[in-house]
Amino acid sequence: MALKVVATGFGGPEVLSVVDEPVRDPGPGEVSVQVRAVGTNPMDYKVFSGAFGRDPSLLPMALGTEASGVVTEVGGQAEGPAGPVRAGDEVALFRIEGAYAAQVVVPASAVVPKPSTLSFEESGGLLLTGCTAVHALAVTAVGSGDTVIVHGASGGVGLMAVQLAVHAGARVVGTARPSAHDYLRRLGAHPVAYGDGLIERIRGLAPDGIDAAVDTVGTDEAIETSVALVSDRHRIVTIAAFKRGFELGLRVIGGAPGADPGTEIRSAARMELVKLANAGALRVLVAST
Ligand SMILES: NC(=O)c1ccc[n+]([C@@H]2O[C@H](COP(=O)([O-])OP(=O)(O)OC[C@H]3O[C@@H](n4cnc5c(N)ncnc54)[C@H](OP(=O)(O)O)[C@@H]3O)[C@@H](O)[C@H]2O)c1
Repeated sequence: MALKVVATGFGGPEVLSVVDEPVRDPGPGEVSVQVRAVGTNPMDYKVFSGAFGRDPSLLPMALGTEASGVVTEVGGQAEGPAGPVRAGDEVALFRIEGAYAAQVVVPASAVVPKPSTLSFEESGGLLLTGCTAVHALAVTAVGSGDTVIVHGASGGVGLMAVQLAVHAGARVVGTARPSAHDYLRRLGAHPVAYGDGLIERIRGLAPDGIDAAVDTVGTDEAIETSVALVSDRHRIVTIAAFKRGFELGLRVIGGAPGADPGTEIRSAARMELVKLANAGALRVLVAST
């Protein structure tokens, strides 16, 4: 038996319940993992709030797409992106279903080694944000010598985009609340407050112009600022303003209808992120536990 969190309706946190359920043995190609930390993402509350629909046949609904933990049991031929998975391995899991649980049985293909540099809590928050950021920077072709705006630079995806773009040799201007500016400077970004006058503040920080923009916020301000400053709309990506992104001919990525899901690039990004974290090039900021 193991505890798990399920949504028994659609709404606020009051629809979440903790239940104790039997856990099956792993079959061929599967592993059983004792979960040490679950990554919580905006997607999770969007799903149980009903923002993506209220189909009662989905209830009770398991939640969560990423976690970290220790492998306790392995079915036959359990091979992950880093090779065979063994009992005792410390791992990070993405993308899985029902991560809000004390024990999960998952395909070995969703299992990567936990970076030795990161705690279980940090590893549980590495992969969804990191894979999204890798995808966003790939579709906008951000590389050495570019100047890129990251809207929402202090958020989960934003912090990953900042670090990956800096690592790639880009100059990064990141919008964030002022209290996050020191941390962003330590990561190598040039922080700027969002709100009235944003375009002028960015022009002041980047007088030679902006080559690309990554929007993780979805506000009109983020979209309009990007369109005003970046001449090539194929170098503007949004992960949050789907409707406006399509209307304006921007790159739109993620799970929304018509968006680029980036399945292969996100899957391959997991090992890239583990390697960067192991090399000390990637930090995960855990807001709270
Ligand atoms: N399409 C995809 O594939 C995909 C994947 C992952 C996430 N998402 C979506 O992307 C969004 C961000 O996800 P996340 O995990 O990074 O969330 P998060 O950690 O909550 O970060 C959101 C950031 O938005 C910033 N923000 C809030 N209001 C703002 C405003 N008016 N102007 C500028 N910035 C503002 C906040 O910055 P401050 O704290 O500095 O105010 C916060 O750090 C969510 O909507 C999520 O559902 C989409």
